[in-house]
Amino acid sequence: MTTQTPARPQLIDLHPPSADMRRLVQDGLKREPRQLPAWFLYDNEGSQLFDQICQQPEYSLTRTEIALLESSAADIVNAIGSGVIVEFGAGSARKVGPLLEAMHPHAYVALDISAEHLRRSTATLQAQHPRVPMLGICCDHSQLEALPDHPLIQGERKVGFFPGSSLGNFTRDEAVALLHRFRVLLSGGPLLLGLDQPKASSRLEAAYDDAAGISAAFARNLLRRLNKDLDADFNPDKFLYEAVWQEAESRVRMALISEVHQTVSVAGEPWTFSAGQPLVTEYSVKYSAEMARELAKDAGWRWCGRWHDPADDLSLHWLEAAD
Ligand code: AVJ
Repeated sequence: MTTQTPARPQLIDLHPPSADMRRLVQDGLKREPRQLPAWFLYDNEGSQLFDQICQQPEYSLTRTEIALLESSAADIVNAIGSGVIVEFGAGSARKVGPLLEAMHPHAYVALDISAEHLRRSTATLQAQHPRVPMLGICCDHSQLEALPDHPLIQGERKVGFFPGSSLGNFTRDEAVALLHRFRVLLSGGPLLLGLDQPKASSRLEAAYDDAAGISAAFARNLLRRLNKDLDADFNPDKFLYEAVWQEAESRVRMALISEVHQTVSVAGEPWTFSAGQPLVTEYSVKYSAEMARELAKDAGWRWCGRWHDPADDLSLHWLEAAD
């Protein structure tokens, strides 16, 4: 008889060092318009604010996607098969539950940029799914060359899971590069990709600028994070938050607009903002089914189908590595 040791999530920390963060911020402030990588939004505070965004009445994306996963998990697993689930940008890991139940995977691997958040979310998930071995990897998955050598991953079929429309943060070229990278990391395994679709601008702008002001606080937290982690001296109150639907680019642009002419110091370097100058905090690109198919093809994936909610607001796309 074998005794089962209770599973305990493990964590591998590959967070970019602060010298890299400093260079990325300097590069971002030289862009026109100024823009930092979206993952800077997700320090511990930012990750918690994002969870609050997901509970706002205007932001239905998370609720809709969870309901879709719950209603379609059996069907999805039947189609894409099983293996080790690798979730990119897992955050609170509140979406993978139905897949774990339908699939009984060999292991669950969660990648996220916030180590603290990852530790909490894998511990919570582990308590709900005690028999699935779990591994957290803190990293910037857009720069990851390979999954770390680990017995839970090696030699196993991998099933990628990238929900939440997180791909929408990237420009088209970046999105193609990222999907390419995932194809390498998953070494032949499929990818389940959640993407939000274009809809009425009034709905989108409200979703990204909620009445309770959580979206604005989430954006302003980026400046607090720079103050804390990169020795900057932003005054968040001197920036106005704005979320605008840009139809031609099929995206929402979220930005902090400098209310006055001001000079801010970041890691010992001065940066002047003119009144009205934006710092783009993130884009959220919305993909129609057609756009998603094109994107997948350009990144070397074969589009095999999609599941969507009754209103067809968002989709879970099924991609297989094209050979
Ligand atoms: C995590 C990138 C999918 O674009 O909907 C939500 C981020 N920012 N509200 C999104 C976000 C402000 C979110 N993604």
